[in-house]
Amino acid sequence: MAKDSEADLLTRARQYSFRARMDKCEIAGPVFVSGQGSEVEDVTGKRWLDFNSGQMCAALGHNHPTVTAAIKQACDTLIHAHSSYFNVQEIRLAERLAGVMPAGLQKSLFLQSGSDANEAAVMIARRYTGGYEVASPHVSFHGMSDTARSLTFAGWHGGHGPLPAGSYAMVAPYCYRCPLRQTFPACNFACLDTSFELIDAQSTGRPAAVMTEPLFSAGGVIEPPPGWLKRLQELCRERGMLLILDEEQTGLGKLGTMFACDAEGVVPDMITVAKHFGGGISISAVTTTAAIEEKVVASGFINTHSHSNDPLACAAGIASLDVIEGEDMPAKARAIGARFKGHLDALAQRYEAIGDVRGRGLLLGIELVEDRHSRKPAHALGQAVSRYCFERGLIFSQRRQGSVLRFVPPMSTTDEQLDRAAQLLDDAFRTTLANQCGKPKA
Ligand SMILES: Cc1ncc(COP(=O)(O)O)c(C=O)c1O
Repeated sequence: MAKDSEADLLTRARQYSFRARMDKCEIAGPVFVSGQGSEVEDVTGKRWLDFNSGQMCAALGHNHPTVTAAIKQACDTLIHAHSSYFNVQEIRLAERLAGVMPAGLQKSLFLQSGSDANEAAVMIARRYTGGYEVASPHVSFHGMSDTARSLTFAGWHGGHGPLPAGSYAMVAPYCYRCPLRQTFPACNFACLDTSFELIDAQSTGRPAAVMTEPLFSAGGVIEPPPGWLKRLQELCRERGMLLILDEEQTGLGKLGTMFACDAEGVVPDMITVAKHFGGGISISAVTTTAAIEEKVVASGFINTHSHSNDPLACAAGIASLDVIEGEDMPAKARAIGARFKGHLDALAQRYEAIGDVRGRGLLLGIELVEDRHSRKPAHALGQAVSRYCFERGLIFSQRRQGSVLRFVPPMSTTDEQLDRAAQLLDDAFRTTLANQCGKPKA
């Protein structure tokens, strides 16, 4: 057997790799080897259309030339630096990030992962307020480190107890399946009133923050209704809680505005960014106001890691911002989102099983139901449709046990690729429904 054939690689993976992946525990192909733009290639030479943007970190397209050039230059200059001293690239990156953040969010702390940035944001909120209680909606995902996981209510708690104290779930604005059986706008944000009644009831009098995604990605591409974020901020302020927005999936141009909160006219106390912030290199940030930074630093707050301000990662971050601004990623996201959402809407016209089409820009989803009246989640259908597409080279993710299909095409995706993906989805629904029912469901 040729060394580095897929079979050989998988044998070695079975022997040496720790299986703790999020969506897939068995060791099986494909094994990816290269990528460019919106496509990746595996070791057998098969090409895949990547509507997951890698792990959502390749939203600029795989191996964007601006990013790879910056990385190559950093390799020839300085890859890593002392984390207690400043280096040129991190100062440049902090200034550039402040330039795209909503007004007033100015001071950035760099870290490696999305989870780190959320952990840091919670620590900062605790230091600033003197409280420790933090709440997050029940469909949230904030990462898999301890505090971030304790605020990740979309799942992944099993076997991890006891979770850190002071993490509270709120009722999420999941309008398609409102847990309170309300309808927007008549509900008048009953989910928020109920949540804060519960938070107040549980509180020991030391609230610190609410952390939320402005559009819940891993929880099922769930978009809060207009005005929800603003009302949330008011309720936080009444209690002296900071509002932390986890914009790791939604920020930096991906939804068609620089940040999702721009569309709502809300400036939170902190924003975290990660994912495509490094153009594929691991770097994240928490950005806050000068006043919050001042008070927290005066209290003796220290939070750094060995690689937190590495010049290589910061150079990739600068290059990523060059692309986001220079190529007008928000405009590209709007155009791609409009075209692909048009396809999804057309599929929803054709297939009763598509109960809801959601999201915007480069983060879209469909929710599958057994019928539109009962809205019973169609888990098996989603799994079968995903499998059909995957076998034919289209990658996207399933959420909510398969009843939500999430599409995250990179901004490099062409009209032809969008149309091809939509055609494959159409084939998948037609074939799968025919197999399930004996005939296509129109
Ligand atoms: C909204 C959000 N926050 C945080 C994270 C965690 O980021 P990381 O996996 O880099 O720790 C993710 C990862 O998918 C995410 O989607």
